[in-house]
Amino acid sequence: MRSQRLLSVLLVAASTLAFAPAAGTAPAPPVACGPGDDAGALGVGDPYYPRFGNGGYDVEHYDLAIRYGPRTNHLRGVATITAQTTHGLSCFSLDLVGLTVHAITVNGDPATWSRSHHELMITPGAPLASGADLSVMVSYDGFPKGFVIPSLGAVSGFIRTRDGVIVAGEPEAATAWFPVNDHPSDRASYTFRITVPIGYDVVANGVRESRTTNGNWSTHVWDARDPMASYLATFDVGEWRMRFRTTSSGLPVIDAIDPDVLPRVRASVRREPEILGFLESRFGPYPFESAGGIFPDTGRLGFALETQTRPVYSRAFFPNGESVIVHELAHQWFGDLVAVDRWQHIWLNEGFATYAEWLWSGHEGFGTPRRTFEAIWKAIGGDSSFWRVVIGDPGVDDLFDGAVYIRGAMTLQALRNRVGDDAFWTTLHLWTEQHAFDTGTTDAFIALAEQVSGQDLSDLFDVWLFRPGRPPASAVSGSGVLTTSPRATAHARAWLRAFARRTAP
Ligand code: TRP
Ligand code: ZN
Repeated sequence: MRSQRLLSVLLVAASTLAFAPAAGTAPAPPVACGPGDDAGALGVGDPYYPRFGNGGYDVEHYDLAIRYGPRTNHLRGVATITAQTTHGLSCFSLDLVGLTVHAITVNGDPATWSRSHHELMITPGAPLASGADLSVMVSYDGFPKGFVIPSLGAVSGFIRTRDGVIVAGEPEAATAWFPVNDHPSDRASYTFRITVPIGYDVVANGVRESRTTNGNWSTHVWDARDPMASYLATFDVGEWRMRFRTTSSGLPVIDAIDPDVLPRVRASVRREPEILGFLESRFGPYPFESAGGIFPDTGRLGFALETQTRPVYSRAFFPNGESVIVHELAHQWFGDLVAVDRWQHIWLNEGFATYAEWLWSGHEGFGTPRRTFEAIWKAIGGDSSFWRVVIGDPGVDDLFDGAVYIRGAMTLQALRNRVGDDAFWTTLHLWTEQHAFDTGTTDAFIALAEQVSGQDLSDLFDVWLFRPGRPPASAVSGSGVLTTSPRATAHARAWLRAFARRTAP
């Protein structure tokens, strides 16, 4: 009864009383963080996801001390968030979905808070100045839930398995397990201190710092020093077989492999250093402190994700594993090093990672990316619904439509055909250099391609990114004459079939 009344008070507080001053009474008074309050805004203004991220501060580091029981799914956390204010703030918010908050301090002093579905709104004891250091400590607990991917009906974000959990989702994952400024435009470094019952192992982003055991629990500390977008943060509990390697250039490669995966998964894992070397030869030096992958053996994970330094892979993607590994490792440059500034720019991630797959198959002798491009254009008939998606602004429902991937890769080959290899590769290298550890937009990419090539490319990008329908043959090959080979056609068809299996429910 009591809790029900409290709940309705909070709902009212979040919707209609958003501008009411903090009442200051325990346990959760309404606060003045409303959508109209610029400084403490409840979102960064991403048109696709208005509530994602928050205004008024910039996170530097998340220290996440988490105790997790895989059998019960109970999670207890203390998140210490180090940030800088970018405005004077009387209140601010973090994103958090579900879970129960027990205590919050701001710069060491108790703070009050209230909740709405996606927001944890915090009022510090005294207003904060602009440009000030901000340290927020949140104690919380609960039973994390994943998010349903509408187009797939599958769960992402927080995925329980028979022997632990896989944490991976896009664009949403982080809010399931810690309070966060959940938008790629605010990247931060992370320390994960994950305590699990002995017998379970833990892998996360970055590098492992320590493992200590205390009674029936052990604490696994992982450090991700390279700032990353929040959806790229992962911790994964299981019976991992850990594999530590170093590439010839000195890069640590750390893999977590479920002992039950098939030999063909292990065979693909073995090729990671070779794939990294190949991608470095095309995109420039690998950008982070470590690399590797997470290879669970659960049927509940139906996708792969480019979690920074350590992508996670569905077992369903093997065979054809090399292509997926190329894709996720290419995301380390395109998606992770350079993140999307707004989610509508997603082709900058998926188109580029898919293009890397075509580069790799060319390298493996299956026909150049130009031939793959032509063969795929031919294979997808002009009346296919594939061509309806406007990949430069696909909308929430089509954010991860196959067209964003494939038409995105086609856009890059069309650009390469038009400007030539030198300008193309210079554009890609300058792109990752200029936007390293930062975000990018489609407009900025177009401007760079035009600047490097010295050409007006608006017709090209318009037809590939912003106009629905199948671009004409003249947009595929300057002459309009396609020179497909039987080998390239066969490969393109096989690749398309494998790709469809990857994205089908
Ligand atoms: N970015 C992922 C990839 O292509 C795919 C992806 C899209 C995804 N939506 C997701 C992964 C949701 C997990 C959850 O590599
Ligand atoms: Zn991808």
